[in-house]
Amino acid sequence: MSKVCLILGAGAGIGLAVAKRFSAEGYHICLVRRSNQAGLDRAVQELSTNGQKASGYILDVTLPDQLELLIKKIENEIGEIHTAVYNVGAQIGDRSLDETSLKVFELGWKLGTLGLFRVAKTLIPYMVNRSSGNLLVTGATASVRGNGGQHSHAATMAARRMLCQSLNAEFASKGVHVAHIVIDGLVDAPDTLGKMLGPDAFEDLKQRKGYEKNGLLLPEKIADSYFHLAHQHPSAWTHELDLRPHSALAWWNHQKLDL
Ligand SMILES: NC(=O)c1ccc[n+]([C@@H]2O[C@H](COP(=O)([O-])OP(=O)(O)OC[C@H]3O[C@@H](n4cnc5c(N)ncnc54)[C@H](OP(=O)(O)O)[C@@H]3O)[C@@H](O)[C@H]2O)c1
Repeated sequence: MSKVCLILGAGAGIGLAVAKRFSAEGYHICLVRRSNQAGLDRAVQELSTNGQKASGYILDVTLPDQLELLIKKIENEIGEIHTAVYNVGAQIGDRSLDETSLKVFELGWKLGTLGLFRVAKTLIPYMVNRSSGNLLVTGATASVRGNGGQHSHAATMAARRMLCQSLNAEFASKGVHVAHIVIDGLVDAPDTLGKMLGPDAFEDLKQRKGYEKNGLLLPEKIADSYFHLAHQHPSAWTHELDLRPHSALAWWNHQKLDL
């Protein structure tokens, strides 16, 4: 049976980049995304080219039961999940309070927090049995800072962060490494930011901040940190890591007032 890296939220950005990083080290990669069967098939094929193993699943983490069934199936039929990456976002774009319906707020909570809770409930008992395993959770600036239009997004991302701290408190001493990664900036991610902006605005953003300016986070560079986190020695574990482009202000800084 192979050692598995499970990526929940596997678009062409952070999800696929982390998959490639682990695949290069011989992990069997299990990719999960909500839609885009063609994109999923392409990713599985790309990961499989060098004799590595990869499997893909279309699954919506907000729907009942499927997530739990998939985790059990992978554990029973493919191999032990060494690392799970909860990378599903909950960004719905800036919306005023008036535009944030109860339904939208609840969906944000299901994507951002409940999905991770369900993964933890199902997967952590397997990891505790083995006294090892990694749960890496992608966060955002909204995990640590609320803002106008972020009522749903910031509330659920901050709750996700607190869930990670609580899981860490209960399970680190049992060998389960839970790490929360604050992605404090815009990622060069075509399936999320790219779709939200549309192709022209995304390319314009890349011209202004990306490429050689290194003002957008590059998924493959983020992936190096995820791989490192999952392979830290238990005597020196990171629980929270923040990543941002060199030229960006950190979330706790403000633009200086123009006096
Ligand atoms: N992109 C940014 O600028 C940025 C900035 C800060 C933090 N982040 C964080 O980074 C993570 C996402 O990484 P990324 O932006 O590079 O995206 P990505 O890895 O390219 O793709 C994430 C994928 O998650 C999938 N997904 C969304 N809802 C889902 C659901 N209900 N069930 C299953 N899969 C679902 C989407 O699949 P489909 O495309 O098939 O729907 C999407 O492609 C999120 O946690 C986000 O908060 C991103």
